[in-house]
Amino acid sequence: MNTMNELTLNSPLDMHLHLRDEEMLKLVTPLTAETFAGAVIMPNLVPPVDSLRALEEYRYRITEAQGDHVFNPYMTAFFRNYTEDELADLKYEMLGIKLYPAGATTNSEAGVKAIDAVEPTFKMMEEMGIPLMVHGETHGFVMDREKEFLESYEYLAKKFPKLQITMEHITTADAVELLGRYENLRATVTLQHLIITLDDVAGGMLNPHLFCKPIAKRPEDREALLQAALDAHPSLMFGSDSAPHPLSKKECCGCAAGVFTAPLAIARLAQLFDAHGKLGNLQAFISDNAQRLYRITPPEKKVVVRKQAFEVPAAYQGHGQHVVPMHAGEILDWAVTSVS
Ligand code: DOR
Ligand code: ZN
Repeated sequence: MNTMNELTLNSPLDMHLHLRDEEMLKLVTPLTAETFAGAVIMPNLVPPVDSLRALEEYRYRITEAQGDHVFNPYMTAFFRNYTEDELADLKYEMLGIKLYPAGATTNSEAGVKAIDAVEPTFKMMEEMGIPLMVHGETHGFVMDREKEFLESYEYLAKKFPKLQITMEHITTADAVELLGRYENLRATVTLQHLIITLDDVAGGMLNPHLFCKPIAKRPEDREALLQAALDAHPSLMFGSDSAPHPLSKKECCGCAAGVFTAPLAIARLAQLFDAHGKLGNLQAFISDNAQRLYRITPPEKKVVVRKQAFEVPAAYQGHGQHVVPMHAGEILDWAVTSVS
């Protein structure tokens, strides 16, 4: 039943997620696995997940941590120059390869220093049908990093027209505009970038729990991202970029980048789409577009969201970890009420 106060989502997907490892993995994996049918797992561990063996072992640790929840981790490998044999082995075990410019964000030191030095790998990925996922930021001025990177996206989209390229966590109106121009470009967008601007991070008292990379931008950027999401732009997918860091790494001098949204993402998105009269488009944004663009069929999972109060916990704790979510302690208007 889809009334104005209730919606059933089929197999919601989070197309960009950080689960970390060890004790943090044990705490956060169930918080996604309980409400999502699948998620694309980022490979920026230390050391990065950049071999078949590391990828399979990481997947095993995730499936151990998810418990009984019906949930498919879609694995990714950390971009480096791979051989054709390595790519052939990886291809059926992962969804794609994630490229980080060296030093652009958390645990990306092993990333790419010069795009043109790795083109042979792009060529093989194109020929083998392996998607490329990209953290698209230069090392320029912080507010301009994504905008400056757009020419690299355009270069890649033209030079490798069959390579499927995902612009991860876009944050600007310019990126939305580019998205519509190339068939082989798609994008993810986070929850926080649909809601906040730089003002929420640093315009008043500094809020470390909203600090992430790419940083939230201007009101007109948020507006363009929100319109594209609400309209269920066919090349746009939900990817939370939920990135947990321990409290001690967030509330300190030298705060780590990352916003933890996984446990409240579905409820908050329902509230957002409802507030704009667009609940009917949430299914496409949170699952159908991703299924079509990546040709994946996630496990069946029905997630009911209802217009009722949901108090976001002040923190998620366990396994010796303590993580503060976005909207900590606030009351949302929508809640996930059942999963089957
Ligand atoms: O804010 C971020 N946190 N952006 C990223 O690209 C990486 C992520 C993390 O791993 O913490
Ligand atoms: Zn990320």
